[in-house]
Amino acid sequence: MSSTVTAPAPVPEKAPHQVGTRPRILTGDRPTGPLHVGHYVGSVKNRIELQDRYECFFIIADVHTLTTRPERAHVRELDANIRAVVIDYLATGIDPERSVIFVQSAIPETYELNTLLAMLTTVARLERVPSLKEMAQAAHLEAMPFGLLGYPVLQAADILLPRANLVPVGKDNESQVEVCRELARRFNRLYGKVFPVPDVLIGDVPTLVGTDGQAKMSKSLDNTIYLGDDAATVERKVRGMYTDPNRIRADIPGRVEGNPVFIYHDAFNPNRAEVDDLKERYRTGTVGDVEVKRKLAAALNDFLEPIREQRAALEANPATVDEILHAGNERMRREARATMELVHDAMGFGFGRG
Ligand code: TRP
Repeated sequence: MSSTVTAPAPVPEKAPHQVGTRPRILTGDRPTGPLHVGHYVGSVKNRIELQDRYECFFIIADVHTLTTRPERAHVRELDANIRAVVIDYLATGIDPERSVIFVQSAIPETYELNTLLAMLTTVARLERVPSLKEMAQAAHLEAMPFGLLGYPVLQAADILLPRANLVPVGKDNESQVEVCRELARRFNRLYGKVFPVPDVLIGDVPTLVGTDGQAKMSKSLDNTIYLGDDAATVERKVRGMYTDPNRIRADIPGRVEGNPVFIYHDAFNPNRAEVDDLKERYRTGTVGDVEVKRKLAAALNDFLEPIREQRAALEANPATVDEILHAGNERMRREARATMELVHDAMGFGFGRG
């Protein structure tokens, strides 16, 4: 059964033990590196807007990275990656005064709820989650790790600990959140209503293609533009972008549809008149790639400049990031402890707890 909704999201029924007046969101990212402009259009922009209507919890899911990459060398990179993601969040406009940013591994209750939820689903059910096989393949794993099969269960623990009502994610996460919904229902049926059954909100922005026109930006394909790239880097990357491969000269008509430079113009150039004019001239063979790209680089740099200023301020004050994470982790821990109280009470389980 699909629970997909598109923005504006319905305001779900209030959670039974919700203290605040706004419904809650939980979503986040695995800290695999700094965020790129594809993350921005695909999810971050949406989150910034949702902060007004929802109480937002943003998780940096470091435990989830271990499901495919448990190696020491990888683990050693996590701290720096977590900081990079926090800086990207803050620099783009996620507001720590209104929203909670926290690190998954700093919340011990995550592991605890994960174990209890694992009893409520089956191996066969998890084997039907398509994204897990894709992740195993992408990571060149020969066999399915137990932890990777359990990825949706761990994700459910993340979502249910703050008793979230809504989970905005990309399409690739939809089947994982469906497992969470089933776990919430099953828990509530067995033990009494503790968890809201969260809705999933799939962004209506399609995945941004890479600068090479490949389906998706990815570090390994070297086809990304990072939110932290400087102006000269953006110019260089845009100059190297793929356009219409059949257009070998500027005076022959080109294709606008599916052309990466125009996809980016549509996503980042607020000057609609300029974009329409470029498209028109591209179609009729009266504009060169050089001009299209120069204007795209300018638009991207205009968009990134205020983000760079925020980033510079944050990097000059590393203590700010530490304080924000410390406060976010504390806040989430309080929520997690309260939820685990409810879980133990509902289950009548946990003999000898204090
Ligand atoms: N699975 C998400 C990703 O693809 C990260 C994540 C972990 C998450 N826990 C979550 C997303 C809970 C939404 C809700 O990177």
